[in-house]
Amino acid sequence: MITAVVTPVLVVIVILCGLDELSAFKVVDLTHELSDTTIYWPGNPSYNLTELFRGQNGAFWYEANYIAQAEHGGTHVDAPAHFYEGAWRIHHIPMERLTGPAVIIDVIDKVRNNPDYRVQLNDITGWESDNGQIPDKAAVIMNSGWGYKYPNKTAVFGTETPDVPSTFHFPAWHQDTVMWLINNRHVYMIGVDTPSTDFGQSTDFPTHVLMAKNTVVGLENVANLDKLPVSGSRIFAAVIKIKNGSGGPARIFATISDSDKECTNSGSIQLPPSKLVYALISICVAKLFLLYCNFW
Ligand SMILES: *[C@@H]1O[C@H](CO)[C@@H](O)[C@H](O)[C@H]1NC(C)=O
Ligand SMILES: *[C@@H]1O[C@H](CO)[C@@H](O)[C@H](O)[C@H]1NC(C)=O
Ligand SMILES: *[C@@H]1O[C@H](CO)[C@@H](O)[C@H](O)[C@H]1NC(C)=O
Ligand SMILES: [Zn+2]
Repeated sequence: MITAVVTPVLVVIVILCGLDELSAFKVVDLTHELSDTTIYWPGNPSYNLTELFRGQNGAFWYEANYIAQAEHGGTHVDAPAHFYEGAWRIHHIPMERLTGPAVIIDVIDKVRNNPDYRVQLNDITGWESDNGQIPDKAAVIMNSGWGYKYPNKTAVFGTETPDVPSTFHFPAWHQDTVMWLINNRHVYMIGVDTPSTDFGQSTDFPTHVLMAKNTVVGLENVANLDKLPVSGSRIFAAVIKIKNGSGGPARIFATISDSDKECTNSGSIQLPPSKLVYALISICVAKLFLLYCNFW
């Protein structure tokens, strides 16, 4: 009698939510490799990886290198101290500020004929009308499609003279849009797939100053943004913990929960084979339990 009720209920729960606790999540790497081609702002020393040892060392193979680099290069984090005296340096940033829901603002069409584009408030309101209100404490990241130009310096800086900042043309944030996100959505991180949260033609870096003053962390040269849904993933900006650092190289990545995708997908429900097996096993276990332990 009890089993007759429990079995269909279990089947329904399992099919609807895809066994939440057993479901895997997908991890997306949002980081460009550090190498000799890593892009730094002009004036910074270049990346230096020097072999200390590589070879057979008696009974075992052994490799070890020395690395040196400027803080602000490649995929990296800007600490608030980068542009505001007395603000958090890297080691001061609480870990809670380095993770949050990822909100991807797609401006690929808008930058196509305008590399000086700055993300406007209507890009945000457009995103919200499609996806709902941006949650508090999010990381809001511009996807301009620039990630694919990396590590071609000419293409990334948008100039034939990548050593002359006044000639730079690449998109980023408008400071008024960032101000709105700080005041109304309490963002923790603002990111770009370009070299700077201020656009290429900026000379006074108002977005950097505004973010720093409001303890918002910056993410620059973020990679692979097209591999994330515009909403629903969680980002981690694992910056190396440099004492007194004004920024630093980071392994930025995001997780996408499989169950999120399936539970919010109201269309046809397709359970992957592994989940089907789990579902059948749990139903069998539940049935056995009821068969042998129905003493209540
Ligand atoms: C890189 O670092 C090594 C080890 O300190 C040093 O010997 C070498 O001169 C450096 N190379 C450059 C290009 O700075
Ligand atoms: C780098 O980008 C520039 C400008 O888009 C292009 O002309 C050039 O061919 C690219 N270089 C490489 C090595 O892809
Ligand atoms: C970090 O900065 C503080 C204050 O500016 C200073 O007292 C300290 O010596 C610095 N430490 C390092 C490792 O740079
Ligand atoms: Zn930076």
